[in-house]
Amino acid sequence: MAEPGAGELVVAVDTGSLDEALRLRDVLAGAASFYKVGKELFTAAGPRAVSEFSSVGRVFLDLKFHDIPATVAGAVRASATLGASILDVHASGGRPMLEAAARAASSAPAPPLLLGVTVLTHLDPASAADVFPGVSIRDQVLNLARLARAGGLGGVVASAAEAGALRDAFGDDFVLLVPGVRPHWAADTHDQKRVATPAEAARRGANYLVVGRAITRHPDPRSATLRILEETAG
Ligand code: C5P
Repeated sequence: MAEPGAGELVVAVDTGSLDEALRLRDVLAGAASFYKVGKELFTAAGPRAVSEFSSVGRVFLDLKFHDIPATVAGAVRASATLGASILDVHASGGRPMLEAAARAASSAPAPPLLLGVTVLTHLDPASAADVFPGVSIRDQVLNLARLARAGGLGGVVASAAEAGALRDAFGDDFVLLVPGVRPHWAADTHDQKRVATPAEAARRGANYLVVGRAITRHPDPRSATLRILEETAG
């Protein structure tokens, strides 16, 4: 397993076709080195989406599994052979599911880092209260992170708003991957609510920063990528 990054940029390739994804790959060649393949592209293009990007960099295969332990273990086992270096499952699947997923990941020939998704970054306090009433987002993230660690996962997915508390509670060896990242010059926050700039997220201890639409929908995705790299360097 590779050493965790320190504010390393992961570009979310959320496209509806492999052709579109490959055009983006060409535009970003030499600028981006870590890509996220998620549900949209994977559903459209299948495992080839992973191999096309793992041939030019590292891949986070973001399929956020959430099911009974045997099903999730099987899905993790199958996806661990595709060439991604990071996979994820929902931490709210519970400890038996997390333990089964962690065992499946660690028994792969090249074990990927397995992360637990805590509270999705599009939830603000009002919509979070519909899902887990009476608990703050921060406490829910910390509870789920505790569960993820107890289940044998290597870290969590959370927003930058919780990154500092997670770093304090879990120390440097727990990997934090942060989506909901928007540079100050981004045109739009889209559906994301708990957002931060790349520099802020890195300062709060994020190992990986996931940026999608601020790059992919930018008129010049390559210069947007280079600008983010510049803003998080050092
Ligand atoms: O375009 P944007 O930068 O908002 O994309 C964020 C990406 O990160 C999306 O692919 C989304 O699925 C993913 N993600 C997220 N929040 C999480 C986990 C993953 O936004 N908690």
